[in-house]
Parts: sequence; structure tokens; C-alpha cells
Amino acid sequence: MAGNYRLYTVLLLLHIPLGAALKCFCKDCVKFNQTCETDGACLASLSRINGVQHEIRLCVSAEKLVPPIYCQSNEDYVTTICCYQDFCNKLELSLPRGRKVEGWGPVELAAVIAGPVFLVCLLLMVTVFLCHYQRAYHHRNQLDIEEASCDHMFISEGKTLKDLMFDMTTSGSGSGLPLFVQRTIARTIVLQEIIGKGRFGEVWRGKWRGGDVAVKIFSSREERSWFREAEIYQTIMLRHENILSFIASDMTSRNSSTQLWLITHYHENGSLYDYLQCNAVEPEMCLQLALSIIRGLVHLHVEIVGTQGKAAIAHRDLKSRNILIKRNKQCCIADLGLAVIHSQSNDYLDIGNNPKVGTKRYMAPEVLDDTIRTNFFDSYKQTDIWAFGLVLWEIARRTVINGITQDYKPPFYDVVPTDPSFEDMKKVVCVDQQRPGIPNRWLSDPIMSALTKLMKESWFQMPAARLTALRIKKNLAQLDNSLHKLKLDC
Ligand SMILES: Nc1ncnc2c1ncn2[C@@H]1O[C@H](COP(=O)(O)OP(=O)(O)OP(=O)(O)O)[C@@H](O)[C@H]1O
Ligand SMILES: [Mg+2]
Repeated sequence: MAGNYRLYTVLLLLHIPLGAALKCFCKDCVKFNQTCETDGACLASLSRINGVQHEIRLCVSAEKLVPPIYCQSNEDYVTTICCYQDFCNKLELSLPRGRKVEGWGPVELAAVIAGPVFLVCLLLMVTVFLCHYQRAYHHRNQLDIEEASCDHMFISEGKTLKDLMFDMTTSGSGSGLPLFVQRTIARTIVLQEIIGKGRFGEVWRGKWRGGDVAVKIFSSREERSWFREAEIYQTIMLRHENILSFIASDMTSRNSSTQLWLITHYHENGSLYDYLQCNAVEPEMCLQLALSIIRGLVHLHVEIVGTQGKAAIAHRDLKSRNILIKRNKQCCIADLGLAVIHSQSNDYLDIGNNPKVGTKRYMAPEVLDDTIRTNFFDSYKQTDIWAFGLVLWEIARRTVINGITQDYKPPFYDVVPTDPSFEDMKKVVCVDQQRPGIPNRWLSDPIMSALTKLMKESWFQMPAARLTALRIKKNLAQLDNSLHKLKLDC
């Protein structure tokens, strides 16, 4: 009853007179000129089932309109309309854009096709970019090497390292070989064997034009030490027979890691520490070793004013491992990575920005108890003197006196563990104020007795009371001269 009332209302609204037949387009009514008549509604429906499109256009009687199932669309796959004017169902229909429509509309189709195509394009672009980048990277690395070999032209074929060094010292340029020459040398060195390992990295023996060189390869986290050492060698004229000769420094990027090289002269005897392990020395040689070390230290410590001058340098990591023995049994001081520079004439103190502070075993009391006056250059020189005294003691232990020598031991071997801590050293050196033991035997030899005196004067608790490098050098030189005289007189 309610349904009939609703239909009546609809017909009234659509101005269809009651009882008048509604004419509709009927697709299948071929006999009736594709026309049907109804008291209900004209219906048009379009659906797609299993990919096939179905179109229905017919009359729906009034009784079938209640309930109006016939006229309902399904937003997933059917569009249906019921209308109430003659032939109103002849209109164009389109399929719904439902979620589950079998087959896609143009937008979906475009999205479905364009999406993967876009992704493939993106992937291709990324691949092409990566390939290009990789090629460029390899090219750059190659270029680095090729450029170095181009530089080769600047070092004429027959020139050896000795020639280059000679040219450099006589040219008066002051500080080392030109950078491109350094780079050429570095990149044409052939590494031979590893000869040592330290806190900063590895040391290798390498070959360049038939000659041996030492290559210190710093680990990348030790960049500051590499930089500092290279900087000191580059900027300060440090050519001295008792300072390790610098040849070149180089930074390259190989196999995606940074390589930091410092190339110096190679000394087959290794360090003083290595040498003392298996060699005992006579008192005279002990004196010669001491004299050569102090000559090197004086050259570091003094400022030389003038065009061929140099700033003053304090080493801060002097020890037997950082002193090398040359073929002529003279020592040379190595490892300037912690050095501080001072120029009195320019009122300039450069402490560098390397927070590492020397080797604990060799630290002076003022470094251990932190009373060192860090903005006062002499403080650093005084710590070098403390360490020099300890090195002298190491040599003295290996000196044959009255036919007796001792085996090698590092300073404070009897009071601190193998790898002493800061606290271990502080307790021994600052609190207990202990010093390395001096056997009476040493005092029975005139040379050793003089050296013992120097040791003691290098170990004063108060830094300012210690001898200066220059004073020690003079004392040792006097001792050496008097020995020579004595020999001549004999
Ligand atoms: N120019 C060189 N010629 C020959 N051997 C060298 C040369 N430089 C270093 N060595 C050897 O390589 C070793 C390692 O040197 P490195 O300076 O890396 O470490 P270290 O001095 O032993 O310890 P630290 O890292 O505490 O200074 C030295 O002890 C020495 O035997
Ligand atoms: Mg060293």
C-alpha cells in the first residue's frame, strides 16, 4: 500500500497522468518497433560480467517496482536507471567505477600501466646514474695515478733520490721537494715489506728507482698526526744529519679509504730500541750515540733567525723507538707528529691540535701531575730533556763496563707494568719520586760517570732545574774532545 502511494507520488511529480501508459525503449522488442508500454517505469541498465558488457533497455511494471530492486545500481558492476518519461531509457550509460569492476576504466588502466612503467624508468635512471658515478670514480682514481705518471716528466729519468735531495738542499728553497714531485715519488713507490707497527699505523720498506725508502702509513684516524708531521717537515727547514730525512707526504683515496703516507729515508738498523735489543756497545759508542741524539735535539730546540732559519721545535715524544740508527752508527730523531713549534722573533707558539700526549713511560713529572705550563714553550723543551735522560739510561744499561753489560730494559721496567697507565707512572715519578737505578759500576768508567751525571741533571723534579739541550751538547762535546786529545797524546 505504501509502495503504491510512493509510485503515485513519483508519477505525479513527473507529470504522468494516472492510467496513461508510459512508452519505453525496448531493446529486444523487435516486433513492436523496439517499443514497450508500462504502468511502471522505463529501465536502462549496463553491466559487465566476466569481461562482457550487457545492455538492457525495457519496461518495468508498477508491481515490480515494489520493492524497487529492479532500479538499483551496484556500484561495483551495474549501472541501472529507472525513469518515467517516454523513451527516457534511451540515454547513454556508463559503467560504474566500482572497486571490484572486472576490467578497468581508463583512469585505472592508465594508473596500472603508468605505475610500473614509471617505476621501471626510475630504476633505469638510478642504475644509469650509479654506473656513471662508478665510472667517473674509477676514472678519477686512474687520473690520479695517470697524473702522477705525467708528473714523471718533471723528474728526469736518471735522477735518484740522492740527486733530488742534493738539488733540494743546494737550491736553498728551504722546505722540502715541490709537492708535485713528492706526489710523483709517493705514487711510484713499490712497497716491499712491513718493518714495524706503532700507535699511528704501519711502517714499510719501499723501493723508489732502485733505492730503499721508509713509508709510514698512518691509519685514517691518525690524520692529525700525519698532518702535523708533514706540516712540520714542509714548513720548517729540518735538514740535519741527526733528524730523520723527510722525502715526501701524500694523501690518496684508494679503494674508498684514505691513505696517508709519510716517506722518509730508510735506516736498515731500525730504531735505537731495536738496536739495543741485540747489540751491546762500548762506552765510546755510548757517548757517540748520546752526542748524535743531543745534536738532533739541539737542532730541533733552537730557533734560527734569518732566511735559512727555522722555528724552535719541541718533540714531545722522544724515546728509543723514535730514534733511528743510521749505517754510520749516528742516531737520527724521528716522529714529529706531536711536536710544538715556537718562534720567539714572531712571538708565536703553535701547539697543534693533536690531543695525544706522548708515551706514558717517558712522561715528565709535570706532565703526569698536570702542572706543566702549557703556554710556555720552554716547558715542552724541558719534557724532552727528561725523556733524553731516560734514553741515555737505556743505552748505558747496554754499555760494556768492566766486561759486564745488562740486558735491554725500558725505563721503570722494575716498578711499572708493561703497558703502564697514567696513574702507575704518576705514583712512581711524582709521588714516590723514583728514578731509574744507576749501578755503581757505571761510576768506575770516566765516560759513563760523566753520562750518569748528565742523566741525573735531566731528571730534576723541577723542570727549570734541568739542563738545556745546548748545555748537554756542550758537555758531551767537551768530553768527546778530551777523549780525542787523550788518544792523540797516547
Ligand atoms: N725510517 C725508518 N727506517 C727504518 N725503520 C723504521 C723507520 N721508521 C720506523 N721504522 C721502524 O718501524 C717501527 C715502527 O715505527 P713507528 O714510529 O710506527 O712506531 P714506534 O715508534 O715503534 O711506536 P710509536 O707509535 O709509539 O711511536 C720502528 O720501531 C722502527 O723499527
Ligand atoms: Mg715512532
